[in-house]
Amino acid sequence: MENVEVDFDKNFDELENRIKSCTLCGLHETRTQAVPGAGDCHAKILFVGEGPGKQEDLKGIPFVGAAGNFLNELLESINLRREDIYITNIVKCRPPSNRDPKEDEMEICLPYLREQFKLMRPTLICTLGRFAAKKLIDPNIFISRDHGKLYRKKGQVFCALYHPAAALYNGSLKDVLKNDFMLLKEFLEKVRAVH
Ligand code: URA
Repeated sequence: MENVEVDFDKNFDELENRIKSCTLCGLHETRTQAVPGAGDCHAKILFVGEGPGKQEDLKGIPFVGAAGNFLNELLESINLRREDIYITNIVKCRPPSNRDPKEDEMEICLPYLREQFKLMRPTLICTLGRFAAKKLIDPNIFISRDHGKLYRKKGQVFCALYHPAAALYNGSLKDVLKNDFMLLKEFLEKVRAVH
């Protein structure tokens, strides 16, 4: 009898290794290391940010800087830990000086994210910030108008959230994010993705 679980883990490891050695776009020339993602690859909730920053590039783990600390707080507020979710980014390598990722860099990197979706088949994908929301949900989305709403696209449920870093610059967004996380909790309880 085939062991689906072992195959899944092997496929996910293989994908992460391909990301770590990727040289498909110019970002590999300036990165310290690629950041495939972290957390539980069996999780039903997937968070997608923009791209690794300085700390992430050094450690090889997404959201470990100040924005990551706030994200951890938001997760804790709905009784989730980093180990209960999987988190990754649109581009897996740090854009130099934290500049915005370029269109061609995102397009070249997106197939990795699509493979992650296909293997994980998450119940909910939460985009963090406008780059991820525009790329994954709708190019015409506006976070200020559309945050916290649920979208169904090609059978997959998405929720657009402000980037936690935005709340570090604009304190009033902290409560907005906290409220949106409460909505996520309600949704996840409804579909029994968390207990
Ligand atoms: N911001 C992101 O979008 N991703 C990270 O991994 C860290 C900061």
